[in-house]
Amino acid sequence: MRIKPAKRVRGRLSVPGDKSVSHRAALVAALARGVTRVENFATSADCASTLACLASLGVGVRREGGAVLVEGAGRAAGEWGFREPAGPLDCGNSGTTMRLLAGVLAAQSFAATLTGDESLSRRPMRRVIEPLELMGARLSATDGHAPLRVEGRRPLDSVEYETPVASAQVKSCVLLAGLGARGRTRVSEPALTRDHTERMLRWFGVALEEETGEGGAVHTVALEGPASLEARDVGVPGDISSAAFFAAAAAVLPGSDLVIEGVGLNPTRAEILPALRSLGADVVDEDAREVSNEAVGDVRVRATDGLAAASPQARVLRGAQVAQLIDELPVLAVVGTQVEGGLEIRDARELRVKESDRIGTTAANLRAMGAEVEEFDDGLRVGGPVRLRGARLSSYGDHRIAMAFAVAALAAEGETEIEGAEECVGVSFPEFFPALERVAER
Ligand code: S3P
Repeated sequence: MRIKPAKRVRGRLSVPGDKSVSHRAALVAALARGVTRVENFATSADCASTLACLASLGVGVRREGGAVLVEGAGRAAGEWGFREPAGPLDCGNSGTTMRLLAGVLAAQSFAATLTGDESLSRRPMRRVIEPLELMGARLSATDGHAPLRVEGRRPLDSVEYETPVASAQVKSCVLLAGLGARGRTRVSEPALTRDHTERMLRWFGVALEEETGEGGAVHTVALEGPASLEARDVGVPGDISSAAFFAAAAAVLPGSDLVIEGVGLNPTRAEILPALRSLGADVVDEDAREVSNEAVGDVRVRATDGLAAASPQARVLRGAQVAQLIDELPVLAVVGTQVEGGLEIRDARELRVKESDRIGTTAANLRAMGAEVEEFDDGLRVGGPVRLRGARLSSYGDHRIAMAFAVAALAAEGETEIEGAEECVGVSFPEFFPALERVAER
């Protein structure tokens, strides 16, 4: 994909339904009794993988325009009517599909195998194998990687589990398994991560107990199993992680003024907005409302005269804040190259095990564009402001790297080519490049 520089971005746009919320809507609806209509279901390939896996498990799934109808397999409490799949369940590129579905499968009375593409087959699965085995399921993998075979047990034992990594996927996996366990399942995470599963379960009538430590440190959720869930229609907000690329472009291109409509503003997800604000962008959210337990609103981003951080601390992203910015860090690193004094990202070792090693791939592409980058085990530091140069880059087959560097390309001098970009953005945002072209002014 070739991208020319732009003077600014202007106008209004909306982004497709949130990927994280769509996965959860489909999975939780599949466990419920009755038919759930999910409006504004994500157009992402990852969410299509979740639907295809559910269909292979005998769940009724039907698309109706932008909505998805899920006929849940829930019967009586703890008795789910999933069918043993005829073959492996292909999760494609989607870590969320594999890890959350593993939790659901752990509480079935049959065995199933989860497979994925080359990138997903390199990602760590021990983090879900450990808690699910403690609950009585049997799992096997090759050196902690997919294919992941899950031999379920019904009911599972409940567990009190402290996950060493701040991962919403691990937390969600344990909670979904807990629905099919006998007794109280409790999961603690070292920092509060996106809480869409908690919100979705409450929407479907599950009672949860939650505790959060000061500043989002250590978060605990508990539920009682076996639980029975009732179908209930869901509306999915626009994906803030997709909106983030547009917000970042508006922040770095002088003269920009962009409104992104109907975006999810869940505080455990929307940390990109205060982060951009504290780096000097003019960011407001308007018209906030609630849809199926999730906050939704419009976001307006205007460029200011050069990005300057509110304080030196604002130029270091670390700790609990990083857990809530995890998918936005590559594009924030791009923004950092335009900030007076640059930007440092720490405590982000998890980036090394995403769809690509996002510390390495972000650093390599930034350097190719002429940025000054120091790489750490757990993050990176970029100098700024620098005039980026158009370059030949790789997407590394990673959708968020492709989109982050499309933003960098708009701000660069000369054309940029991002190899493999068109092929991989479909994982989360198939409409990305046409949407970018519509708002870019040259
Ligand atoms: C997600 C959680 C995060 C995030 C991923 C989606 C989710 O992964 O990076 O894009 O929907 O729960 P981890 O749980 O591995 O941090």
